Amino acid sequence: MSIAEKFVAMEYGPALEDPQEALLWLDGHKRRFVHFIGGEWLEPANGGFFDSSDPATGEKIASVAQGSAADVDAAVQAARKALPQWQALKPHTRARFLYAMAREVQKHSRRLAVLETIDNGKPIRESRDIDIPLVARHFYYHAGWAQLLESEFPEYSACGVVGQIIPWNFPLLMLAWKIAPALATGNTVVLKPAEFTPLTALAFAEICQEIRLPAGVVNIVTGDGSTGEALVKHSGIDKIAFTGSTEVGRAIRSATAHSHKRLSLELGGKSPFVVFEDADLDSAVEGLVDGIWLNQGQVCCAGSRLLMQESIAETLTGKIRERMSKLRIGLPLDKSIDIGAIVAPVQLERIRRLVDQGVAEGATCWQPQTAMPASGLYFPPTLLSNVHPASTVAQQEIFGPVLAAMTFRTPAEAVELANNTVYGLAASVWSESVNVSLQVAAQIKAGVVWVNGTNMFDAACGFGGYRESGFGREGGREGLLEYLEPTWFKQAPALPQAKHDSHSNKLSAPQNDSIPADRSTDRPIDRTVKLYIGGKQARPDSGYSFEVRGLHGELLGEAPLGNRKDIRNAVEAAHKATGWAKTTAHNRAQVLYYMAENLSLRREEVSHRLSASVGESQAAREVEAGIERIFTYAAWADKFDGAVHNPPSRTISIAMNEPIGTVGIICPNDTPLLGFLSLALPVLAVGNTAVVVPSETCPLIAGDLYQIFDTSDLPGGAVNLVTGHSSELLKTLAEHDDVDAIWCFSDASSATAAKSFSVGNLKQIFTNEGRAIDWFDRKQGEGRWFLQHATQVKNIWVPYGE
Ligand code: NAI
Repeated sequence: MSIAEKFVAMEYGPALEDPQEALLWLDGHKRRFVHFIGGEWLEPANGGFFDSSDPATGEKIASVAQGSAADVDAAVQAARKALPQWQALKPHTRARFLYAMAREVQKHSRRLAVLETIDNGKPIRESRDIDIPLVARHFYYHAGWAQLLESEFPEYSACGVVGQIIPWNFPLLMLAWKIAPALATGNTVVLKPAEFTPLTALAFAEICQEIRLPAGVVNIVTGDGSTGEALVKHSGIDKIAFTGSTEVGRAIRSATAHSHKRLSLELGGKSPFVVFEDADLDSAVEGLVDGIWLNQGQVCCAGSRLLMQESIAETLTGKIRERMSKLRIGLPLDKSIDIGAIVAPVQLERIRRLVDQGVAEGATCWQPQTAMPASGLYFPPTLLSNVHPASTVAQQEIFGPVLAAMTFRTPAEAVELANNTVYGLAASVWSESVNVSLQVAAQIKAGVVWVNGTNMFDAACGFGGYRESGFGREGGREGLLEYLEPTWFKQAPALPQAKHDSHSNKLSAPQNDSIPADRSTDRPIDRTVKLYIGGKQARPDSGYSFEVRGLHGELLGEAPLGNRKDIRNAVEAAHKATGWAKTTAHNRAQVLYYMAENLSLRREEVSHRLSASVGESQAAREVEAGIERIFTYAAWADKFDGAVHNPPSRTISIAMNEPIGTVGIICPNDTPLLGFLSLALPVLAVGNTAVVVPSETCPLIAGDLYQIFDTSDLPGGAVNLVTGHSSELLKTLAEHDDVDAIWCFSDASSATAAKSFSVGNLKQIFTNEGRAIDWFDRKQGEGRWFLQHATQVKNIWVPYGE
């Protein structure tokens, strides 16, 4: 074709990126890569290697070491050895290393982009213009945090040695998301890249050498899931940070339950892309190109569920098909390609299987007649319409270029459909009405909501999921906190393991309301309390109570023996109390102040009763400190605000601290009143509802507490009390799918139980890890640490300008 003919036809010609530099780099390493441990390149202990191949051609790119438990051990030891020296450096020095990483990534950006593309199959346009610039931005941003660490987080310390496991969809970007905050906060790292895409991590290891990063601060061990498993299980790891499938996330939650390893999980998604009838439909269609066809749809936050308002569904579908017909599929190194290759045969097979299943379940499948490369791993852009909201393709993550379309009529229905998923990673909302879009954004349960946009990321804006999309955030201030712990907490002594002998407590037959007569030589029983569910006193389902004894073994009264049914009733009541989250922060503060007032009015009687369990002096101190603690959280209720970020685009990102939902709380035994208030109050202050198991040894405090709640205008169901054996009630709470988080402040075995039993819906778990907390010490017992655990950050991105 002559130039003149090309000018008329306006056909795309091939525009291949030159891979020479990347190929030379591979050849320079003889296309054979070993682990990067303690600043050196180390052969795998068992001598095993696997191939990394180019998904566009199927050709082998290089041999890569398969990490064994011995390799992981060597890497963890190197990271442990490097830790004191790394932490002894001035934050400014650490900042300079991170700054150097950013500079080196920029310097080698083209080589890294090509390497990423040939290893992963993503279009060079994306690796060049999205992945690598975001990698550099992440290191720059965190160089800044390293510099500010001491002044901004004066009372926090690094977790220690961090194990990081990343997926194959954004290999170098996920590395940056993991390594930058970990190093900025003074941790050392063992990172395992995904087996399909290890090459850019190894190129990054070389950058660490080039900038003379102290040996052992960053260690890269390559390998498959078994290498990841060895890392997760290693006893020398203080924290695991994982991005990948929900299935593996669950396995990791389970495997770390018996340890005190901190955990953050960034898992799958099935994100809604909601288009209202007043949206700019052409922009929405372009949004979809980025939303579901970016990286062949292999994106955890891909807008894979299209929810269209019924009135525009036909027009929008027509526009989408037209646009799909223009998407170009082909060699990822071609600069004018929209859709590249699928990462591996197994993933291609999975996409095919799920699309077939969608059709079998009634969906209509449409694919454009686009030219496809003759070989390589490609899948055409696909639109599934007439999708039933409960069908497999509407519920399961496909992780491919497949859009499942559904319709809705009203904003309320849109929200309901959007939230009809176990996931909660991201959402896009398209409407020209700021009221509609922000109202809907606020109601969608997801960590990120883009208004009139999609798939925007920035190091300053936290990213992470709600529900089974995981917990923890990457990016922003909240992302740093995943790698930090309060210094006092790190140093807190272990609590002695509680003897779970409460089961031997004597059971009593069902009581009537009157105070029972004395039945023994014990002093008269002076109290019988009830459960408190939905704002009402309730008898236990079991019909049994248990005897509560005082400091000297004397009988103080009886408490109801709550069981599974009572917990379920309490959770249901907590779920119904949605008004508490929706009421204004000012109103919540008022209720809390009122509680303080009411406790203050009853200070003498409460203190007197409590003294039989904890002694006179502690009882008086608990009541006084308790009044103060309520004041603290009444004060916080209207002050624990979010932030507004200014990412480098014409967008603001509103970071909101949202309540998590319903929180199950297991209170400590030794400070029955103050422990209760220290845990329930931060949870309530930010709008959660709670099901609380009061101190097992002093459950009679429940009676005082519900009298205070009843007289303080606290709406029924906002807090529910179930007394009984904590370990049994904890199991029911942790296994309950409608409980969103567990706060368990007891001994180490309870912390383990909370984590193990909560694997099902991947609840957020906050525990004292069996350590002693001095609830009287305000530094330990109250403040932001608790409020941070009571909230999750949602970033709502809002564009401005033309
Ligand atoms: P995966 O979750 O198995 O792999 C992610 C990482 O975890 C890899 O580095 C892998 O080696 C490692 N790993 C695997 N098993 C492990 C274990 N037991 N312990 C510790 N580490 C382990 O994801 P996979 O198999 O590559 O993809 C399967 C599906 O997962 C995809 O189709 C997609 O739906 C989803 N996925 C989601 C991602 C996300 O970003 N949310 C990323 C990758 C996959």
